[in-house]
This record gives sequence, C-alpha cells and structure tokens, in this order.
Amino acid sequence: MNQTNPTAPASLQGLVAVVTGGAKGIGLGIARELAQGGCRIALWDFDDEALQTAQRSLASEGVDVKTFKVDVSSVEQVESTVAQLLASHARIDILVNNAGIGGDKLVSKMDLAFWSRVIEVNLHSQFICSKAVLTQMAENRFGRIINIGSRAWLGNRGQAAYSASKGAVVSLTRSLALEYARKGITVNAIAPGIVETPLFETLTEEVRQGLHKTVPMERIGQPEDIGRAVRFFAEPGASYVTGQLLYVCGGRSLSSPSV
Ligand SMILES: NC(=O)c1ccc[n+]([C@@H]2O[C@H](COP(=O)([O-])OP(=O)(O)OC[C@H]3O[C@@H](n4cnc5c(N)ncnc54)[C@H](O)[C@@H]3O)[C@@H](O)[C@H]2O)c1
Repeated sequence: MNQTNPTAPASLQGLVAVVTGGAKGIGLGIARELAQGGCRIALWDFDDEALQTAQRSLASEGVDVKTFKVDVSSVEQVESTVAQLLASHARIDILVNNAGIGGDKLVSKMDLAFWSRVIEVNLHSQFICSKAVLTQMAENRFGRIINIGSRAWLGNRGQAAYSASKGAVVSLTRSLALEYARKGITVNAIAPGIVETPLFETLTEEVRQGLHKTVPMERIGQPEDIGRAVRFFAEPGASYVTGQLLYVCGGRSLSSPSV
C-alpha cells in the first residue's frame, strides 16, 4: 500500500490514535469514527468529568479507549502524556489536533491576554502535540497528523483571534507536511463549518435557524461528518495526500466569509 515503506500498516486496525479535546463534541465524533475503523483510542482532554463520561460511553460500544487528563497547551503535560502512552501502547500512529476554544470579540474590545489564550490553545497546542509525537512517528516511518482548523480562517467579523489561529493552523499543516514528507508521515487539515456540539445546543432557536440558512445544504454538520473526513486522512491508503485543507462545511466555504 505504502510504496515508500513496505512495513507500513495496511489498515487502521490496531493503530493507536490520539484525539485531543476528545472528551466531547467534534473530538468524540472523530474518536468514534476512528474506532469504527479499528483504531485504539487515546482521548486527551483537560475536562476530567467529560473524559470519564466519554470513556464509559465508548467502552460500552466495545472501543479500546484510554483517557488522559492533559492541558494540550502545556509542553510539560503533553510530553509526560506521550511518555505514558508510549509506555502502555508502544506507538502512536495518528494524532488528531482537535482541542480548541472559540473567541468571539471585536478587536476594539479585545486585549492581548484574550488574543494570546486563543492562539495558545488553538495554535500552540498543535505545534506542541505534533512535535511531541513526530520523532517516534519518524522512527516508525509511519504517521498521520490531522489538524482541525475552521472555515472561519477565511475571516469572520468579531473573530479576529480565532480566525488568525485557524489560518495559522493551515500554514503549520503545510510546513509540517513538507518537513516530514520523506518520512512516511502525512499532515493534513480539516476546516469544519458549523457543527452541532454542546455549544450549538446553548443557542436560541432563532439563532440556530439563522445559522441553518447560511449553509447551502441547509443542514448543520454533525461530529461524525468531521470524523469521516479525519478517517480518510488517517487511512494508510491516503499515503500520497499531504499538506491539504479539506472543507467539511455543507458548501459554506463557497459563500462570502461574512454570511
Ligand atoms: N463546533 C463548530 O461549529 C466548529 C466549527 C469549526 C471548527 N471547530 C473546531 O473543532 C474543534 C472542536 O470543537 P468543538 O465544537 O467540538 O468544541 P467543544 O468545546 O465541544 O470541545 C472541545 C474540547 O476540547 C477540550 N479542550 C479545550 N481546551 C483544551 C486544552 N487546553 N487542553 C485539553 N483539552 C482542551 C475541551 O475540554 C472540550 O472537551 C475546535 O478546534 C474548534 O475550533 C468547531
């Protein structure tokens, strides 16, 4: 399958997949899809309670899942979590950099602390987690990194910090893809549109209907929609695809960024 590495896996079966921010929302949907492909799942999240709920839910579905409480914006915590996971599972094949926070604020009302936290969680964490697993992936001559960006990288009024963080995710993805192209490691990104996660549930019916109308397909995405796209990039058979950004947004990226 992988012409540059005859020892590369033939399928997702038994591969170890880390999903950051995997305790809920899109991350949990991604974990479910990768598990359906046969992956062993490691959920990394700093929400302990949500981690336990996710663990029980996935385990009841027969998923091989282990949870780790970790703040992915901390180098020390991430490095120690990688060491723990390698001690128990011996390898990390797939990293999905999904953890992220929103950040709705006009620039005129935004201070540097607000800006920095959004960049730290949405961008620095992807650098920190990738760097922490890449040496081991390079030794195995196999790895898949999938970075979750956002359609908002195109620019959104009131989301300068969030958009900038997600734009930089695209640049990071392309640069990492080039640096590791000869090592059997692919690095790709996904730009979701509006996805139904716990946050979406908190919006009023009126706001939800308004958002609905901005999607050409006139439906809100589900975590599984993102999970299926991640699964494509994660497959060993996708070995010739790297540095790409895939929109999963019901056609919303085809409209003006401000609608
Ligand atoms: N929901 C959407 O409409 C949408 C659209 C485009 C992109 N995205 C992106 O998808 C990703 C997931 O979003 P979601 O909607 O599922 O969010 P969510 O808030 O439902 O889940 C995010 C998870 O990340 C965890 N997390 C946040 N910061 C963390 C940190 N520093 N360390 C460890 N865990 C941390 C949270 O505890 C939570 O479990 C984010 O990167 C987000 O920017 C979401």
